[in-house]
Amino acid sequence: ALKLAVVGGGSTYTPELADGLARLRDTLPVGELVLVDPAAERLERVAGLARRILARQDHPATVTTTASVAAGVEDADAVLLQLRVGGQAAREQDETWPLECGCVGQETTGAGGLAKALRTVPVVLGIAEQVRRTAPRAWIVDFTNPVGIVTRALLTAGHRAVGLCNVAIGFQRRFARHLGVDPGRIRLDHVGLNHLTWERGVTLLDTPGATGGREVLPELLVGFGEQIAADLRLPLPLIRRLGAVPSYYLRYFYQHDTVVDELRTNGSRASRVAAIERQLLEMYADPALDTKPDLLAQRGGAFYSEAAVQLVAALLGTGSGSGSGDGAGVQVVDTRNDGTLPFLPDDAVIEVPAAVDTDGVRPLPVRPVEPLYAGLIAHVTAYEQLALEAALKGGYDRVHSALLAHPLIGQAERADRLTDRLIAHNRAHLSWA
Ligand code: G6P
Ligand code: MN
Repeated sequence: ALKLAVVGGGSTYTPELADGLARLRDTLPVGELVLVDPAAERLERVAGLARRILARQDHPATVTTTASVAAGVEDADAVLLQLRVGGQAAREQDETWPLECGCVGQETTGAGGLAKALRTVPVVLGIAEQVRRTAPRAWIVDFTNPVGIVTRALLTAGHRAVGLCNVAIGFQRRFARHLGVDPGRIRLDHVGLNHLTWERGVTLLDTPGATGGREVLPELLVGFGEQIAADLRLPLPLIRRLGAVPSYYLRYFYQHDTVVDELRTNGSRASRVAAIERQLLEMYADPALDTKPDLLAQRGGAFYSEAAVQLVAALLGTGSGSGSGDGAGVQVVDTRNDGTLPFLPDDAVIEVPAAVDTDGVRPLPVRPVEPLYAGLIAHVTAYEQLALEAALKGGYDRVHSALLAHPLIGQAERADRLTDRLIAHNRAHLSWA
C-alpha cells in the first residue's frame, strides 16, 4: 500500500481528498495518508473528519498528522502540495491593493498572483529539498498556486514534479454532463498556461481511452452555449466568435475593466472563503459528521481529488490499467514545454494534455496555436519567467520588471505603484524586503 503525504493537509479541502481516496480506492490503494501542517488545532480537526470519511467507507488507510515536513514526507510515494503561505489574510491583500492602481485583484492573475508567487516559491522549494532528502523517489504534485510559476520553480530545480489544476477536469465533467456520457469519453484539446487556457476542441470517444472519436465542440456551443457562457460569466457572442471555450480566468483579460469595477463594489473572494472556512471548521469538529459537507462545494476546487488520484495513480502505475477509467493515461497537467509549443522556451511550463505513466509526463503534440491565443500565452510566459526570477532573487527591480511584463499591467507608473504596494504588504514573507 502507498504512502501519500499532503503538505498543507490542514486545508479545509482535505475532506474532499479523503472522499476521493475512499471512492477511488481501486485506482489508488493508499495505506497511509500523512497530513502535514503547522496549524496544529486545525490539522487535528481536519484529520478527524478525514479519518471518519475513510472509516465510514471501510477504507483501511491510516491518517496521521505532523507539523514536520521532513518526518511527514519520509518514504512517501507521492507528496501533494496544497499549502497557502500567509493564509486567506495574505490572499485578501493580494485581492485588494491592485485595485488601488486600476488593476484586477486576484490570487493568481496579475499583481496579486505575483505577490503570491513571491511568498510561495521559496517555501515550496524548501519543502521539495526535504522530499529530495527523505523520499527521493516520490512524485511531487503541486496544487499550490500560482501553479505555473511554482511548477516552473520545482522543475528548474530538478525535482520530480508535476503541476495540477482542476479547470480541465471541470470542463471534462461539465461537457460530459451536457452530453449525458461518461467523463472518460471526453477528451479536451486544452492549451495554454495554468489559468490561461482555451478548449479548442472536444472529442467524444467511443469508449474511455479509445482513439479516434468525433469533434463535438460546435454542437456543445449550439446546444449549451448559454449555460457555458453563464457558468464562465463571459459573453456568449465572444465564445461563439472564438469557437473555443476560454477558462473563466480569461475573464480577467477579456473583461478586465468590468471586473475591476465589480471587485471594487463587491467584497473580496478571500473574505467570502474565510467565512466558508470558519463554518466548515465548526462542522468538522462534530464527531458525528462522517461525510464532506455540501458547503465545501462552494469552494472553487471541485473535482480536485479526482484529478489528483488519477494523476498519482498513473505516475505510480496503480489501478486497473494506465487510464484507470479516464482516457488511457492522458491527463491535462502543468509540465515543461520542451518544444510542444514551438513559440515558447523549453523551460516554460505549459498546461496541455499529456501521456502519464511511471516514466512521467510527456505532452501530446499540439496543433498550431492561433495568434489570438499564442500572443497572450507568450506574453504571460515572459511574465512568469520574470516572476520566477523575482521570487528566487528578490529585489525591487525584479518585481518591477515582472509587473511591467504582465499584459494586464504594462505601464511604467502603474508598475511603480504596484511594486511599492506589493513590497509594503508582503515584507513579513519576503526575506529580502
Ligand atoms: C479553482 C482554481 C484553483 C483555485 C480555486 C480557488 O479551483 O483552479 O487553482 O485555488 O479555484 O477557489 P476558492 O474557493 O479558494 O476561491
Ligand atoms: Mn487552478
